[in-house]
Amino acid sequence: MNPKITRFIAENNPATPCLVVDVDEVENRYRAIGRALPQARVYYAVKANPAMPILTRLVGLGSCFDAASWEEISLCLEAGAQPDAISFGNTVKKVSAIQAAYAAGVRMFVFDCREELEKLARHAPGSRVYCRLLVDNYGAEWPLSRKFGTTVEAARDLMLEARDMGLDPYGLSFHVGSQQLSAEAYEVAIARVASLFTDLSAAGLDLRMVNLGGGFPIRYREDVPEIDHFADAIVHAMTEHFGNAQPEMLVEPGRFVVGAAGVVHTEVVLVSARGRQDGPRWVYLDIGRFGGLAETENESIRYAIRTGRDHAPSGPVALAGPTCDGADILYEKTHYELPLDLEAGETIDLMGTGAYVSTYCSTRFNGFAPLGEHYI
Ligand SMILES: Cc1ncc(COP(=O)(O)O)c(C=O)c1O
Repeated sequence: MNPKITRFIAENNPATPCLVVDVDEVENRYRAIGRALPQARVYYAVKANPAMPILTRLVGLGSCFDAASWEEISLCLEAGAQPDAISFGNTVKKVSAIQAAYAAGVRMFVFDCREELEKLARHAPGSRVYCRLLVDNYGAEWPLSRKFGTTVEAARDLMLEARDMGLDPYGLSFHVGSQQLSAEAYEVAIARVASLFTDLSAAGLDLRMVNLGGGFPIRYREDVPEIDHFADAIVHAMTEHFGNAQPEMLVEPGRFVVGAAGVVHTEVVLVSARGRQDGPRWVYLDIGRFGGLAETENESIRYAIRTGRDHAPSGPVALAGPTCDGADILYEKTHYELPLDLEAGETIDLMGTGAYVSTYCSTRFNGFAPLGEHYI
């Protein structure tokens, strides 16, 4: 457990549920990915956690930003980011959002279909655009499915059309899926991008950029490969496929930068055997799927839990949130153990919750107040 967060909780006894994020740790993580991949420019994925103390710290460190909406763009601008340090990285954008971003000076936009490209040509004329390719998300614990990206063949046509529409076809992107445990996923994706890149360059386009997206994993309950392992694989693949003609490289880490810097402090609301001797006890917390733990869907992201007496005799539990919704179960199949004498009213901590928790939180489902947030 991060000592600064432990001290903050001990001294302030904050109301639960709440997220406590160590902003210095965010800085450490940002620096770590910069050290591992000095060839790449870091565009922090704002969606992972858009809190102002995080954005201002990252602006101060020279980060660029991957924004998913006009609202995220305006937060970045408010934090002091320059418009040319912002990429509008959502393939699905409202016209009004494109217009607002363009008026604010943003000139880098993603697309993955003709209809979106046409919107960009009309409302963000002359901008740098990059096309997102569909790549395999195998190996990712939180895959981004088939909702985004297009085929190499379609991307080729669209990039040529982008030039004809007066846009600047700047590069290609992909996302290997979040919490990606396999460096091979990046290697395979780079090979795919590189062949199209070469092909389009031969067709006369002045492509300059490859955006490797996010996906870099953090430790939850199990060790994951270090960032250097991913960086080595990426550099090796980029060298193999691009040789001396290396394009600009962008990465868009979200989880890696903020995930490990946060802890959710939560109260046990109820512990019940539910009348069974053979089954696990059910532990209901004051945070659940709707309070921000959306990534527990399918038990995909499995947070480590600290009770403060982790060596006490323990037994199996199922974990659930406090609402009246049947889907509000965190872990029923994954094996979790908590102290045998755990009682309602105790607080426990969920580790590695700095990313994709505060923003997934519903505002008032079942009347519960949204997650409190502390940036220290
Ligand atoms: C376009 C884009 N870039 C970057 C990210 C950040 O991914 P991660 O948090 O896995 O690093 C996401 C996550 O959904 C994304 O959609």
